[in-house]
Amino acid sequence: MISKRILGNSGLEVSALGLGCMGLSFGYGPATDKHEAIKLIRAAFDAGITFFDTAECYGPFTNEELLGEALAPFREKVVIATKFGFEDGDSKKGLDSSPARIRAVVEASLKRLKTDYIDLFYQHRVDPNVPMEEVAGTVKDLIGEGKVKHFGLSEAGVESIRKAHSVQPVTALQSEYSLFFREPEKEIILTLEELGIGFVPFSPLGKGFLTGAIDGTTRFDPTDFRNTVPRFSEENRKANQALVDLVKTIAIDKEATPAQIALAWLLAQKPWIVPIPGTTKLHRLQENIGAIHVNLSEAELNDIAKALEHIEIVGARYSAQLQDRVGK
Ligand SMILES: NC(=O)c1ccc[n+]([C@@H]2O[C@H](COP(=O)([O-])OP(=O)(O)OC[C@H]3O[C@@H](n4cnc5c(N)ncnc54)[C@H](OP(=O)(O)O)[C@@H]3O)[C@@H](O)[C@H]2O)c1
Repeated sequence: MISKRILGNSGLEVSALGLGCMGLSFGYGPATDKHEAIKLIRAAFDAGITFFDTAECYGPFTNEELLGEALAPFREKVVIATKFGFEDGDSKKGLDSSPARIRAVVEASLKRLKTDYIDLFYQHRVDPNVPMEEVAGTVKDLIGEGKVKHFGLSEAGVESIRKAHSVQPVTALQSEYSLFFREPEKEIILTLEELGIGFVPFSPLGKGFLTGAIDGTTRFDPTDFRNTVPRFSEENRKANQALVDLVKTIAIDKEATPAQIALAWLLAQKPWIVPIPGTTKLHRLQENIGAIHVNLSEAELNDIAKALEHIEIVGARYSAQLQDRVGK
């Protein structure tokens, strides 16, 4: 079984690793066969995972529907996190966190998720056209109505986090964090610690890169989002192999796999960090869960930190258009 962690001061208890469900429907090529996807989600629950991550825009909509069906038999035993924030629920369109849109999303998401409450409702991206106080106030009302239990933000900057938290305590921030992208160490993690907000790192395996399964010769499906990411250009994948080599070396020392090292490193950063790796494959799900038993000592963490100082990561993590939506 998997140990539990509490997200921030909120008391929201979840398994120390969650399951990122996006890739089952969206982002990394064709969707997984529905039967197989349901099997995977239920296998995660059987193995002790109680924290499942989705969003209205994954699909759009089909990923929430998938989770609704897969989790229905044990709904009260799991924590479901979903997200609002895009026009018509389509991440290719603009942002929309207007109170009317948030209210419409909650009703539609509840139906798709086959439930009468959402455990954790994140704003997917900060909307510069809607004051954060208004967004937080709307979610506060939804919490008062019992439709939502906890409020979260994704890829928000420090100022937005503080504003939101002053209106409605924020339970968790979900932003990218991994050995491949360590920017949150600059100021975000300190702010979360100060305010008592949990941290849910997305893409904890560096979108698969840290596992060693991707190199300069990998060809992604034409619909795979990674084709648009500068960091995943053929040239940059080659340049960034130095990081994978380091992770592989640590894995050999610890008799673990690179994916397990990437996750164990995140778990070792703070006791209120809960990574949500995604996979479409049962054997990888089991492998990733094995990270729970990989303990990195203080000395090992220091050695890793020193080694990282000599590795330069090349290429932006988003295209210019998507980069403009983060850290606001
Ligand atoms: N808030 C946001 O803006 C945001 C953005 C992105 C993601 N997310 C959330 O975070 C979750 C996780 O992030 P992510 O899916 O982007 O990235 P990730 O978890 O870092 O990596 C997923 C990729 O790694 C591969 N993989 C997983 N385990 C592996 C293993 N043991 N060995 C080799 N390859 C492995 C998967 O391929 P296979 O399926 O082939 O195993 C998939 O391509 C998502 O599902 C989503 O819920 C949120």
